[in-house]
Amino acid sequence: MRERAIALPLPHCGPKGAPQVSMDGFPHAMTSTPKTSALMARGAQFLGVEHAILCGAMSWVSERNLVAAISNAGCFGVIACGAMTPELLDKEIAGTKALTDKPFGVNLITMHPALFDLIEVCARHKVGHVVLAGGIPPKGSIEAIKAFGAKVIVFAPTIALARKLFRSGADALVIEGSEAGGHIGPVSTSVLAQEFLPALAADHIVFVAGGIGRGEAIASYLEMGASGVQLGTRFACASESIAHPAFKQAFFRANARDAIASVQVDPRLPVIPVRALKNKGTEEFTAKQREVALALDEGRIDMGAAQLEIEHFWAGALRRAVIDGDVESGSVMAGQSVGMVSQEEPVVAIVERLMQESEDALARR
Ligand SMILES: Cc1cc2nc3c(=O)[nH]c(=O)nc-3n(C[C@H](O)[C@H](O)[C@H](O)COP(=O)(O)O)c2cc1C
Repeated sequence: MRERAIALPLPHCGPKGAPQVSMDGFPHAMTSTPKTSALMARGAQFLGVEHAILCGAMSWVSERNLVAAISNAGCFGVIACGAMTPELLDKEIAGTKALTDKPFGVNLITMHPALFDLIEVCARHKVGHVVLAGGIPPKGSIEAIKAFGAKVIVFAPTIALARKLFRSGADALVIEGSEAGGHIGPVSTSVLAQEFLPALAADHIVFVAGGIGRGEAIASYLEMGASGVQLGTRFACASESIAHPAFKQAFFRANARDAIASVQVDPRLPVIPVRALKNKGTEEFTAKQREVALALDEGRIDMGAAQLEIEHFWAGALRRAVIDGDVESGSVMAGQSVGMVSQEEPVVAIVERLMQESEDALARR
């Protein structure tokens, strides 16, 4: 186990000056992190924020308190709709608006059976950015979002699919590597960044996610052409996060190697791997897969129902960990950067440190 770090005073970032038009042509505030802000300008303008840092939606964690805190800190919060009903999403958006007047987004899971009703809720609230996650956006979904003037942010595992989504109207892309917490793809962030950024970043807005715990990494991806970054694990245990104290303690104790990807036990049942802290729940997932595979074999359910059952398992297990604090049998989803999360801190402190680390790295170049 890792030793807990001692809290150090943050470098003072100073008051923000009036907006100016800088050499890159984009208006942004005079900051104490000019190099980082210049590289983030395109992403910041797209999101309508000061720093092009998204806090990726985290089911049960990314609710109004954390989302508003992220946006109030000059970054971009995203509500995790997850399995919420349209009524619940409606309340969550209204609750977030009561806590911030800054831009924030909503993350919708493409396989949600009420996806188009959820889009309608976003339209009613004039949400500025909708993130479509969890699979290829179904026909008409990008158009339905753009119809009320919102920007669409998508994920894509291949460059070909990314290009297709941009042609279909997507406005920005998140590439997310396997170091991330939650549902993951097979390729690391460093490889995705080397493949996608040279191919797409000149013409498109691309955010990099997965495994980012410090500003030096942010600086590197910005230099490679990223418009900004998305972090989840680093923000999950902020003071403003409603996650249970036991969930937070599990994060503070964990090392990178404790955040492991789930394994697929039956080749006929394709399950999307999930990265979480190893515990008893990890074994329960193996048992769950066997149970679902048997039901599939016996013809009691079809493949679609099998996959939905797996997803419901995760949603329930994550809720038990985040809300109830059951970190033994619940799912403590966390990315490999969890080793860099050692104490509870306000979002503002986390953001200031990330920006300063990035700036110091760029200044040393
Ligand atoms: C606890 C947890 C829950 C998550 N839930 C979701 C989710 O509901 N939808 C989604 O698109 N991504 C989800 N993610 C992924 C994050 O949005 C983000 O992309 C990811 O955490 C970035 O990588 P990092 O964890 O290495 O910072 C989750 C991540 C964590 C840690």
